[in-house]
Amino acid sequence: MKAFTSTCIVKSTLEACHPDVSNPADKIAKLSQALHDHSYRYHVLDEPTISDAEYDGLFRELQELEAAHPDLISEDSPTLRVGAPPLDGFETVEHAVPMLSLGNAFSQEELQDFDRRVRERLEREDQPVAYFAEPKLDGLAISLRYENGVFVQGATRGDGQRGENVTDNLRTIDMIPLRLRCENPPAVFEARGEVFMAHAAFDALNKTMIDAGKSPFVNPRNAAAGSLRQLDSRKTAERQLSINLYGLGEVVGMDLPESQSGALSLLKEWGFPVNAEIAACEGIDACFDFYKAIGAQRDKLGYDIDGVVFKVDAIAEQRELGFVSRAPRWAIAQKFPAEEMLTLLEDVEFQVGRTGALTPVARLKPVFVGGVTVSNATLHNMDEIARKDVRIGDTVVVRRAGDVIPEVARVVLEKRPDNTSPIALPSECPICASPVIDSDAEVKARCSGGLLCAAQRREGIKHFASRRAMDIDGLGDKLVEQLADEGLIESIADLYTLSVEQIQTMPRMGEKSATNLVNAIAKSKQTTLAKFVFALGIRDVGESGAALLADKFGSIDALKDADEDALTSINDIGPKAAASVMGFFANEDNLAIVQRLLDSGIEFPVSETVEISTELEGNTYVLTGTLSTYSRDQAKAKLLKLGAKVSGSVSKKTTAVFAGESPGSKVTKAEALGVQVMSEEELIAIIGPPDA
Ligand code: IVH
Repeated sequence: MKAFTSTCIVKSTLEACHPDVSNPADKIAKLSQALHDHSYRYHVLDEPTISDAEYDGLFRELQELEAAHPDLISEDSPTLRVGAPPLDGFETVEHAVPMLSLGNAFSQEELQDFDRRVRERLEREDQPVAYFAEPKLDGLAISLRYENGVFVQGATRGDGQRGENVTDNLRTIDMIPLRLRCENPPAVFEARGEVFMAHAAFDALNKTMIDAGKSPFVNPRNAAAGSLRQLDSRKTAERQLSINLYGLGEVVGMDLPESQSGALSLLKEWGFPVNAEIAACEGIDACFDFYKAIGAQRDKLGYDIDGVVFKVDAIAEQRELGFVSRAPRWAIAQKFPAEEMLTLLEDVEFQVGRTGALTPVARLKPVFVGGVTVSNATLHNMDEIARKDVRIGDTVVVRRAGDVIPEVARVVLEKRPDNTSPIALPSECPICASPVIDSDAEVKARCSGGLLCAAQRREGIKHFASRRAMDIDGLGDKLVEQLADEGLIESIADLYTLSVEQIQTMPRMGEKSATNLVNAIAKSKQTTLAKFVFALGIRDVGESGAALLADKFGSIDALKDADEDALTSINDIGPKAAASVMGFFANEDNLAIVQRLLDSGIEFPVSETVEISTELEGNTYVLTGTLSTYSRDQAKAKLLKLGAKVSGSVSKKTTAVFAGESPGSKVTKAEALGVQVMSEEELIAIIGPPDA
């Protein structure tokens, strides 16, 4: 099919191209077409012919015309990209053709094994296979559906069979054509690809988040997922998302291309952005060369890739090879290894968390790993230090796997000098000098200072103000530190007595910012009981536990008086959490703080009931290791909402263990019991990515 071409698109204004457009319908059609063309030239061809300001001018002209003639707004109007009114939730979309995942190879041998299997199945053992190589973009998979050439629906991958309808959000991505650039579009055409966030957009977004006192996104993939899953598409429109298409889904009313390379050419011709770093590779050795070449360029691409995908190019051969479980036999992802570097461990300090837990942190000679300079890395806990035999003065391997917190992976014993010193747990808290308790029952040692400890208090205030708790806009970790340094706040209750005058005494704090902060603090008084209980930071009570407690007891007074039986009658509140709740409310200092908070006007006008679905009823899951997309509490809350049980220990009854980064013994136990171990990716396939 011939690509759409227009001679007008090189002209800089509509009038220059169509000087006689006077009727509004024609003018709207011409303006829309001009905007579609310019968008295509900018995003796909990378050859813009007008400036951004000129584009904006045409866009505004169209908006004004459409406002005057709403009946003339077409279903693919470029103005729809600004976003639609918020939704209550996403609808589920059934994929006409399932969206598959990919098998992984982590070494050249595994790649060669893949090639051997392909050649055996195709019975062409002595002949090299024609592969097509593409970067494995690190974002989230989506499907775009066009009916008679018009974009009608966009969906996330979900579990591969069913995803979420995110059409309004996808429409805001300028790179997505709202109409296919072809003359005779087929009845149905589904293009599949990856939505991602380029580094420049990610850095800019995080800067605005930090300036607004919000927690920044951990990595571009999370930022892309969070942005695409906004219920308010006008928010998505504010985020700079990118997309590259790499395959086809359901196609009706035309012959399919004969190869993957042909499919990508067609996609490009019809107006879709296709990644530029693609290549035909004759035989598996050429594939490995491609992998090495892309690996060398990885830092300069401007977006994250986590490997390379190799696909058998001929569609006829792909058909012959078919699928195994949920992955094709004709494609494989070769992943990049986690990045590691050697450096010197200069010192170890202990950080005190909100609940007093002491975390050893390695102070390192700064080293560039995985795109960032790392000078601190976690050593997790004393058991890990002993297991890895880490000493101050050692040369250590620092590892950063994409998004996770850098960690000391191991010691290079051959490089150990004579004068290393062992790492000792301090007997006193480095912040408040209270005794440190190192009980066998817990992995981490704790400061016994409670609210006497300034570190615990500060962490408690940060937690209280955070988005999932009281959600005090603008009060980020840095500002809490500053307010505490200035002696303006000692406890969470002090926040509600802060005045504009007091805040203004701080360095770099003008009247406007101070007023904004006071207003944000005042606004947080309207909250839900669940958020308030979570915000109090009671040990062993996470977001989901707080929601369950709020649901069961309905008021702070009732919760305060609850006994162990009442507390543990809630599915998922065990004796440990029950003891923590009772312990919290038995403490006079805590009671006084809660009372001060309530007296300052905190109220719970919105009763938030946890809607429990039955989707995962009967399943019990265990979460272990560090998840990059979710906090463990958030993942747990989501699983509970879907009707599953979440347990802290693995047994034969466990349906599956979801293992994040650095999982512990739970995975070993699961393997011994024959319990399925799943990745974070598989968890997300079941529960979806986190709400932004
Ligand atoms: S093809 C039938 N190509 O990787 C194969 N996937 O692990 C379907 N991905 O869910 C996927 N870049 O999100 C394919 N060039 C590429 C890709 C790619 C990134 C992601 C995609 C998919 C996941 C599979």
